[in-house]
Amino acid sequence: MKKILVTGGLGYIGSHTVVELQSSGYDVVVIDNLDNSTEGVKEQIVSISGRSIDLVIGDVNDEQTMNRLFQEHNFYGVIHFAAYKAVGESVDNPIKYYQNNITGLICLLGAMERHGVQNLIFSSSCTVYGIAEDLPVIEDTPIKSAESPYGTTKIIGEKIIQDYTKHKNINAILLRYFNPVGAHPSAKIGEFPNGVPSNLVPYITQTAAGIREQLVIHGNDYNTSDGTCIRDYIHVVDLAKAHVKAMIFVDKMPNSVDVFNVGTGNGSSVLEVVKAFEERSDIRLNYIVGPRRDGDVEQIFADTQKINHVLQWQAEYDLHDMMYHAWLWQKSISRKIN
Ligand code: WQD
Repeated sequence: MKKILVTGGLGYIGSHTVVELQSSGYDVVVIDNLDNSTEGVKEQIVSISGRSIDLVIGDVNDEQTMNRLFQEHNFYGVIHFAAYKAVGESVDNPIKYYQNNITGLICLLGAMERHGVQNLIFSSSCTVYGIAEDLPVIEDTPIKSAESPYGTTKIIGEKIIQDYTKHKNINAILLRYFNPVGAHPSAKIGEFPNGVPSNLVPYITQTAAGIREQLVIHGNDYNTSDGTCIRDYIHVVDLAKAHVKAMIFVDKMPNSVDVFNVGTGNGSSVLEVVKAFEERSDIRLNYIVGPRRDGDVEQIFADTQKINHVLQWQAEYDLHDMMYHAWLWQKSISRKIN
């Protein structure tokens, strides 16, 4: 069986990807420093897939740990999730983001080179597009300067991999995620936002669960159908499956790098997300409209033709499924908390 190293494999997207990799017949080793996850996620993953995981609690920035890991295992490829991803926190603490996200990638690339591992899937983000003139965005859409240090680390990470691939034996795929939401249908794994969620869907579910008083919609005076911002929300399980498709394809493109948008291709407004949640949860959500949030782009959603055709992947869950699974997950963790 081909063995894959998943860095940050106990995190939100990482854990769902480990489940899909195992279901597709890969052996998985996870390295995770538990900065944004808990060790208990491992048992939950195993309870879904029925397969064990080699787990190393450690940091991709630690060269010794990485050398030991690559000496111990003959990896077919690596999926690199381990990075900080809170936009607001990155504005308050840019150095922490540059240090962890960029140095971590460089340390990983060094370990891959020293041990002859060639296949890399990199977790990037639609954030790299900034405020896109033309919609839907295609992969050739010009990359803008990022709205946050978090976005900058994704732009720099992509450039490092593109440059490195020109000179070294690496086959790389960059996956530009749109807005990952929802949870595994089993409600055994999902998103554990640290503290007060900055993202829309966890804030919605925590408001519905009574953890938050009310949702504040950040602005309804945008030039969109209902005045609220538009995003391309994608179910985290669909996103996870895109990583498996990328790992299947990556060794067919030796010494090169390619980039794919990973979205549904549909834009949904904030109010449409709220409505879909209310319809699937049968709960009237308590919300008000407040001022715009700095840094928000008015609308962005993906052109997904490239990933549909080249990787033979497309999203299967719709917005209502995403809200339903997000709600099932919220109820399962609320039960655990209470
Ligand atoms: C979506 C919409 C908000 C909270 C971020 C990162 C991006 C990616 C996904 C990692 C916006 C509105 C939100 C709230 C609201 N992360 N909103 N009230 O900002 O599109 O993307 O997460 O890759 O890099 O930037 O997601 O969920 O924060 O916001 O009205 O309490 O919901 O204004 O219009 P965003 P989001």
